[in-house]
Amino acid sequence: MGSRHARNIARGRLFGVRLAAVCDIDAVALARTKKYAPKAKRYMDLDIMLKCEHLDGVIIATPHYAHAEIAKKCIAYGVNTLIEKPASPTVEMVQDIATCAKGSGVKVGVSYNQRSNRMYKRAKKLLESGKLGEIQRVDFIITNWYRSQAYYDQGGWRASYVGEGGGCLMNQCIHQLDILQWLVGMPKSVYAATRTVDRRITVENDVTATMRFEGFDGAFAASTHELSGINRLEIACDKGRLVIGPLSMKVIRHKSQKEVNATTKHGYGFATSWSYRVGYGFFRLLSDIFFGQQLRSLKAFRNAINGKGDMLADISEGERAMQIINGIYLSADSGEEVALPIDNEKYAEYLERKKAEEKK
Ligand SMILES: NC(=O)c1ccc[n+]([C@@H]2O[C@H](COP(=O)([O-])OP(=O)(O)OC[C@H]3O[C@@H](n4cnc5c(N)ncnc54)[C@H](O)[C@@H]3O)[C@@H](O)[C@H]2O)c1
Repeated sequence: MGSRHARNIARGRLFGVRLAAVCDIDAVALARTKKYAPKAKRYMDLDIMLKCEHLDGVIIATPHYAHAEIAKKCIAYGVNTLIEKPASPTVEMVQDIATCAKGSGVKVGVSYNQRSNRMYKRAKKLLESGKLGEIQRVDFIITNWYRSQAYYDQGGWRASYVGEGGGCLMNQCIHQLDILQWLVGMPKSVYAATRTVDRRITVENDVTATMRFEGFDGAFAASTHELSGINRLEIACDKGRLVIGPLSMKVIRHKSQKEVNATTKHGYGFATSWSYRVGYGFFRLLSDIFFGQQLRSLKAFRNAINGKGDMLADISEGERAMQIINGIYLSADSGEEVALPIDNEKYAEYLERKKAEEKK
């Protein structure tokens, strides 16, 4: 991911931004950046880079456990920081970064690039406008981010408690959990089951969770082992429904269900409905295919540094999806419903146990 960000900047795809330096503790990975960023300085030591360069911003794209320490150093040097998701693999670590960022005057954000998806943005506006009425239920199924054994075999830190802090939830579906809470708010509790299906990994690649929100319930299903999977978010409201697929959103509007129920004399209720579609956007899709959706996250970071907007997600929001993920892991482990916010101490014990089991 770091090389994609670096390439996007070095090749001038981010107007007004210059790639000053690259840092990697692996000399081979660092040398590879010469190909597309010959003018950037190269460092193997973060402290030296931060001391020598007068940077306006740093993008952190390292394995998950390294994020917190690097972010805290950048904050200490007064450098604005964009952290790849997850900001860190435990709620406690994310809170630690947020505490350091608070009052530092430094802008710190998390690269939840799915928030730049125009369908989710339109959905958020619609829900906040109140036109659809109260939310009645939410269902998210995300099973089309297939990962083979070859994917898991390519990187030492991937798909392990020691290297990554979790499986498909921590790496892939954190995006969807962030979108879920961004649109409908935080659940009060989660009840979940996880599995590892058909892969030689120690972490989950299959999740089924139910969630209790204030006044409604929701279901979340995710996997990275199914072929012909789907990506569908459905939000049912009193006066309409949103059905968001990978490339279009269907907006259905109708009379209030409460009103229909109060006035109908029949055993069944009907209401005339009308609908329209919001597309993902052809040029956005092309840009995603060639440069990555992450370019829009960088644009928001640049604008925030220039005082012309906000990052896609401030670090203060980085914790929310992690609360759900850590809660799902605790629930799957205990077989019990887990209230959010989670107990950080319990989670630390759970993670240490999983790491020890994994080593064995
Ligand atoms: N937003 C997205 O859509 C998206 C997509 C893919 C990956 N990611 C995230 O990007 C991050 C990196 O993932 P990746 O797949 O590129 O990993 P990777 O293993 O391919 O690359 C990580 C690089 O970080 C270097 N590194 C490790 N520790 C370091 C340290 N302390 N200081 C400097 N460099 C260090 C490694 O040598 C390696 O070159 C992860 O957080 C991942 O979840 C985000």
